[in-house]
Amino acid sequence: MAKLYGIGVGVGDPEMLTVKAVRALQESDIVLLPRARTKTDSTAYEIAKSYLRDDIEKVYVDFTTVDNDQVREEDRKVYSDVVNRVIEDDKTLSFITIGDPMTLSTFVYVMELLDREIEVESIPGITSFASVCSRLNTPLLMGDERLKIVPLHKDSDIAEEIDSADNIVFMKISRKLEDLKKVLAEKNLLDRAVLISNCGKADEKVFYNMGEVTREEISYFSTVLVKKGGLENWRRFNPF
Ligand SMILES: C[S@@+](CC[C@H](N)C(=O)[O-])C[C@H]1O[C@@H](n2cnc3c(N)ncnc32)[C@H](O)[C@@H]1O
Repeated sequence: MAKLYGIGVGVGDPEMLTVKAVRALQESDIVLLPRARTKTDSTAYEIAKSYLRDDIEKVYVDFTTVDNDQVREEDRKVYSDVVNRVIEDDKTLSFITIGDPMTLSTFVYVMELLDREIEVESIPGITSFASVCSRLNTPLLMGDERLKIVPLHKDSDIAEEIDSADNIVFMKISRKLEDLKKVLAEKNLLDRAVLISNCGKADEKVFYNMGEVTREEISYFSTVLVKKGGLENWRRFNPF
């Protein structure tokens, strides 16, 4: 029987893969590489490439990053077709994905649209928000605090999201940056927010001055952490 791994490779630093992830990659005959249609290469591949065998077969799985449900739905069918086509008996395939495969990852759509019985194993990776918090030496949450993870979309009610938690992680922020800045300013929380773009990569940027950040300065791979309890206690432990 064929086997499909969903492997989380973390978000930037190649040293953040688990030992289990590296072993699974080395056992694989085929690696499936999700790639945004606008890009020439796959971010997950850039992170994991040093662990792949030289003779591994690479299959790109293209997807769109546009904010349109119908386009995304069509995309999912296209890349699931690619995956279904390359599955062969006794072959081991690895679908590599940034961060964790069970957290906002295309891997789950591939699983949903598998058209035959195969063994599936998901290998966790370090999520973007875990990486960001460690990079900043800043806790995600403590004690009785409440945490919210919020991927932003065109209809997000940012004020409501902020009101209902103590710590809020905003993901997919790039298209909503101006709205996010506006609401943080209205709630006097600009000094309790930090934005990190390309965490763990060579072009990583950290902004404690969210009010001044522009869309041009950050990439799609950007995350904002808002801590209502403040960031000052932790900021002294990091170099930014
Ligand atoms: C499709 S989601 C992928 C989430 C991923 N599976 C995880 O476990 O975190 C993409 C979002 O993850 C966050 N992200 C991914 N890579 C990042 C990085 N290197 N630095 C900061 N945020 C990142 C951003 O919020 C980005 O918009």
